[in-house]
Amino acid sequence: MTVLVTGGAGYIGSHTCLELLGQGYEVVVVDNFCNSSPEAVKRVKALSGKEFEFYEADVRDEKALGDVFRRHDIGCVIHFAGLKAVGESVQMPLRYYGNNLESTIKLCEAMKRAGVNQIIFSSSATVYNGENAMPLTEASRTGDCTNPYGWTKYMCEQILRDAAATEGLSVVLLRYFNPIGAHVSGQIGEDPADIPNNLMPYIAQTAVGRREYLRVFGSDYSTPDGTGVRDYIHVSDLAKGHVAAIQYCQKHTGCEVFNLGTGKGTSVLELLRAFEKAVGKPIPYQITERRPGDLATCYAATEKAAEVLGWRAEKTIHDACADSWRWQSMNPMGYGK
Ligand code: NAD
Ligand code: UFG
Repeated sequence: MTVLVTGGAGYIGSHTCLELLGQGYEVVVVDNFCNSSPEAVKRVKALSGKEFEFYEADVRDEKALGDVFRRHDIGCVIHFAGLKAVGESVQMPLRYYGNNLESTIKLCEAMKRAGVNQIIFSSSATVYNGENAMPLTEASRTGDCTNPYGWTKYMCEQILRDAAATEGLSVVLLRYFNPIGAHVSGQIGEDPADIPNNLMPYIAQTAVGRREYLRVFGSDYSTPDGTGVRDYIHVSDLAKGHVAAIQYCQKHTGCEVFNLGTGKGTSVLELLRAFEKAVGKPIPYQITERRPGDLATCYAATEKAAEVLGWRAEKTIHDACADSWRWQSMNPMGYGK
């Protein structure tokens, strides 16, 4: 089967393309490189030993998207394409609502015209309301998002839920927790365009000497060591979760939502220590003020994905740290845009 992967040059998309190719799927990728590099596509081809069609296009470009659906017999779509920087979304809300909502709507319309009805959407744990008890189940309350990025995910989920009910789409919403790590080869990984907002790339860039020290945002949370606790999931496990979702999509209609996490909470200092172990040297850090909007703790209930998709995360934070370090040390400047 041929899978159309939007945003397939990005961090999670590139790892998922590699996994799909390894499992015998054909892939077609659409990406406009607004937050990625052609080098990632080149490396996925080299690592997989397989060729695939790549289209440099904006998902909002109706003509370009229509051409892709005409040229290929697409069975299923994975929609990664979107803007994802929380802080930037606060500065530029219209850019975020414009890109993330419009790309999703245009994609659904193009699918409908082409008679393609299966879509897997990259959602996020950010759609959950901050007042929920842990672990977060798929039934935990959503909404009251704290930034425009989060609202775009919340709104896209609703758009897709409605489209499944009335337009005959088969939709799987995947709520990712905190993706980290890199492919075990060290050839593809996370390559933030600017100063990283997220913890793992910041630690990795500090370890490689691109940043002076890590700021640990708060040590007075009600967590075992006072620092924030998150559910870090290896990007290669996440990629496998998408293959499981495709298989689910083949057999079911309607709209279903799954958490993709490990179910295990790790603190900022625990992740830092695990990375230090992978690198074999201390990484400088300073405790600073809390970052506005951050929760103390966030981790997933994983039973639904295990029972229904037959998928569970397998890798540890130690695997992820070793793989991230391999990627960062082999590619100190990322893909070198
Ligand atoms: P990424 O920025 O590395 O990948 C997104 C890709 O989409 C990029 O290659 C970018 O160039 C492309 N893109 C963006 N808008 C486009 C458009 N209009 N047309 C064509 N291409 C476009 O991000 P990622 O970390 O791989 O995330 C993938 C998806 O998962 C995103 O939707 C993101 O919001 C979601 N997500 C990510 C995380 C995370 O922490 N990484 C967590 C939860 C959800
Ligand atoms: N942190 C630091 N220093 C840093 C960066 C982060 O101490 O330089 C801390 C944060 O305070 C938090 C933890 O590390 O306790 C994780 O922070 P991240 O920014 O890496 O991740 P978040 O959990 O804040 O958010 C991420 C994505 C969101 C997504 C969410 C759930 O940025 O888009 O995971 O998937 F919605």
